[in-house]
Amino acid sequence: MEDLHWVFGYGSLIWKHDFPVIEIRRAYIEGWARRFWQGSHDHRGLPTDPGRVLTLIEAPGEVCQGRALLVESDVFEHLDYREKNGYERHELTIHFDDGAVDGITYIAPIHNAAFLGAAPSKDIAAQIRRSKGPSGTNTDYVLELAQALRELNIEDAHVFDIEARLRQDNGVDR
Ligand code: BEZ
Repeated sequence: MEDLHWVFGYGSLIWKHDFPVIEIRRAYIEGWARRFWQGSHDHRGLPTDPGRVLTLIEAPGEVCQGRALLVESDVFEHLDYREKNGYERHELTIHFDDGAVDGITYIAPIHNAAFLGAAPSKDIAAQIRRSKGPSGTNTDYVLELAQALRELNIEDAHVFDIEARLRQDNGVDR
């Protein structure tokens, strides 16, 4: 087991992964909340028109529900490259219903150059609506995430608020 690691997914890792995974489990972390506060110049936006993607923000007393993926250590080389636009590896405790493990996630901290921070929900939704990048539209990123959270019965007011605004603004129906 020495070479295996649990990675906590709170965003795109909830609905897809592009690397080998040994096991996936429902999991949660304590003291963090997901927010669309990180700029995306390389996946869901462009350097001239960044989109907004998730990072984790410290939130004492809150619980962030997601999925934990058990991976071999060479996966980190892939993730370090994929998440290079401001994200850093962060060690934390990952909780399961029946216990807890030491694990890793990626967080875009507030001091990174692409960090955008808080904004009114209508402005976050407007920025997401107009953004797209090499990985697809920013709107699809939010809708895929919201759908996956719903399938897992995970409640997240911030994500569902932005999703509702996008569906309203765009007439998106899916
Ligand atoms: C995510 O869930 O978005 C994520 C978590 C860790 C590494 C990369 C992505």
